[in-house]
Amino acid sequence: MIFSRPTKNPENNVHPVLYQIGECQDCDALNATLRARIELLPQSDIVGQHHYLGGRYENLYVAFESIPEIRVILDLATTHAAYILNCPKKDLRMGWWLNIMRPGDITFAHTHDEDDEILSGVYYIDVPPDSGKLVLIDGMRREEVQPHAGMFIFFAPETLHEITRNESGRPRMSIGFNFGPAKSP
Ligand SMILES: [Fe+2]
Repeated sequence: MIFSRPTKNPENNVHPVLYQIGECQDCDALNATLRARIELLPQSDIVGQHHYLGGRYENLYVAFESIPEIRVILDLATTHAAYILNCPKKDLRMGWWLNIMRPGDITFAHTHDEDDEILSGVYYIDVPPDSGKLVLIDGMRREEVQPHAGMFIFFAPETLHEITRNESGRPRMSIGFNFGPAKSP
């Protein structure tokens, strides 16, 4: 696994970008493991669910022990976040959840600035073709990103965003996360 620094969207050099991207390289086997864990996840392992919209809970909270391999992704996400925010990893506290979009699902427009968040992001475990683009919205500006498995996308918590409909025949799986300041001991 190679750590790659997040880079700005190379296709947009005119306006400030709404997001930064990162990559988990050589993560195919890890993504396959995460996908299998999620497919076999018993309902009892879902410890919380929020944002009931369009007939489903958009945010599923799972005990870390249910998907122990996810630690690699959470750690890499924190490394990216520390780089973007120019702070030590130890100064960051992370919250995370799963977003599993079945065929036909969309994710409604929302923001992540509910508390003390300072950076938000997403990691893609599985993105079948035509399973939904991430759309980031800033006033009249809309930036569409086509994600792929192994990709991180980071954005400001107050950035409005949505995901277009999963037009594929398979689930689309991603991990959402927020970073806030580590609480003082
Ligand atoms: Fe989100």
